[in-house]
Amino acid sequence: MTLSAHCQPLAQTTVDVLLIPVFTDDVSDPTPLSESLPWAGERLSAVLGTAEMRGKPGQTLTLHLAPGAAAGKLVLMGIGAADKLTTQTLRESMAAAIRAHGMQGARRFGLLPRWGALTPRTFAQAAVAGTHLATFPVDCYRTEDTRPVQVETLTFVTETTDDPALHEGIRRGSILGEAINFARFLVNEPANRMTPTHLAHHAQEMANDVGLQTDILNEDKMRDLGMEALLAVARGSVEEPRLITVRYSPPNGAGRETIGLIGKGITFDTGGISLKPAENMEKMKYDMAGGAAVLGAMRAIAQLKPHINVIGIVPSCENMPSGKATRPGDVVRTMLGKTVEIINTDAEGRLILCDAMAYARRLGVTCMVDLATLTGAIAVALGLRYAGLFSHHPAMVEGLQAAARAADERVWPLPLDDEYRELIKSDIADIKNVGGKYGGSITAAWFLREFAGDVPWAHLDIANMAWNMENKPHLPKGPTGFGVGTLVEFVMARAHAANGTPGS
Ligand code: BES
Ligand code: MN
Ligand code: ZN
Repeated sequence: MTLSAHCQPLAQTTVDVLLIPVFTDDVSDPTPLSESLPWAGERLSAVLGTAEMRGKPGQTLTLHLAPGAAAGKLVLMGIGAADKLTTQTLRESMAAAIRAHGMQGARRFGLLPRWGALTPRTFAQAAVAGTHLATFPVDCYRTEDTRPVQVETLTFVTETTDDPALHEGIRRGSILGEAINFARFLVNEPANRMTPTHLAHHAQEMANDVGLQTDILNEDKMRDLGMEALLAVARGSVEEPRLITVRYSPPNGAGRETIGLIGKGITFDTGGISLKPAENMEKMKYDMAGGAAVLGAMRAIAQLKPHINVIGIVPSCENMPSGKATRPGDVVRTMLGKTVEIINTDAEGRLILCDAMAYARRLGVTCMVDLATLTGAIAVALGLRYAGLFSHHPAMVEGLQAAARAADERVWPLPLDDEYRELIKSDIADIKNVGGKYGGSITAAWFLREFAGDVPWAHLDIANMAWNMENKPHLPKGPTGFGVGTLVEFVMARAHAANGTPGS
């Protein structure tokens, strides 16, 4: 079911649930709120300020209405102080409320817009994105007791229905919400249903839908290009590898800049011959979350149409042990010519990414960002709150920090001093694919840095962010779609800077 979001006066609206944002300010002065809904004003004033509704973020209260009313029920949704309202609070409150009531069967939702510190555009964008996120079905393979959240309509209850800022927010919120859900879908699929071949098909289908060009390379083509590192990872599996390229070019031609977005697409990571323990191995289907984020971002970029070239590249294969698999100690020659001693076959992400980075440079990118579920160590360093950000280029660090902030995603810069480079020196080849015991996320990033050359590059290690480990009101256990928002904001801001025209 596709969600339609629009504006309508209350008199013409019938919904199952009317969502009413409540500020902590409403407790001391309920007048503005009760005046905007005169027919419910008395009931609102009666509950505001009671322990049941103080306007705190996360607090909700349901008021059932008599049959025949414009709404079956009113849902008061605490969102904190009006002057401190953030897009994150609004998005998460919307997602939580819609999930809760959607699971009970509500499909038509109304929302009383109350901007607080937000603009109509940012308010609408966050509300619509949150609504889309609420509809993602993580348990789509359950055949019994399913209660999928299906939203038919989200109606902004407004007296004037032609505010262009509101409509722009609705448009962007839909584009972003759908892109994030597309990435979540790719990640959520089990590895038997999301092989590299499937991933390439989904990329192709998405590209056709939104008008992007694709180029999908098979094993023979990779061999011709000298991608021995990527092939070394793929060779243990009977599933064929794919190198997925998705291209966006702006409608009226673009300047010289081309942004490369590169995402790790390991559809399942057993560790290979350096086999992982069985416990939690099932989670390794999400080892293509970086690739999924890139494809999600490309989908949104195709619809937002920034004035800049963007190429999405997803190297994809399965990391399996077998009689044909790469052995610890094997040496390969990467596309760039650098040789790598593969000490640990479980450090495979950097092996597929280094050839993808060389390929991106061959395609002429003028800067590149890679996203990867690269190291378990990133969770040790940063916990489950911030993705790791690495770059040798200060402007890229700043650009990605600003983009992440705009997208309500958290990234934290980690160091890449030359001293760490020592840790990936090999006795036999140019470099080896693991450092030592310490600073595992940094040595992994250093490995990638070796392949960036002079091209401004940044790396986001999202291993700690791509999968939500516990159910939350706004987000079920499962894929988060982390990175889509940051990449989209990064591209929009670069387009803006390159053209001096509004890009975001
Ligand atoms: N895909 C894993 C990293 C990972 C771990 C992602 C946990 C999500 C959750 C990666 O390929 C890997 O296995 N990395 C190794 C590197 C080590 C062998 C140097 C790791 O983190 O243990
Ligand atoms: Mn691994
Ligand atoms: Zn991996």
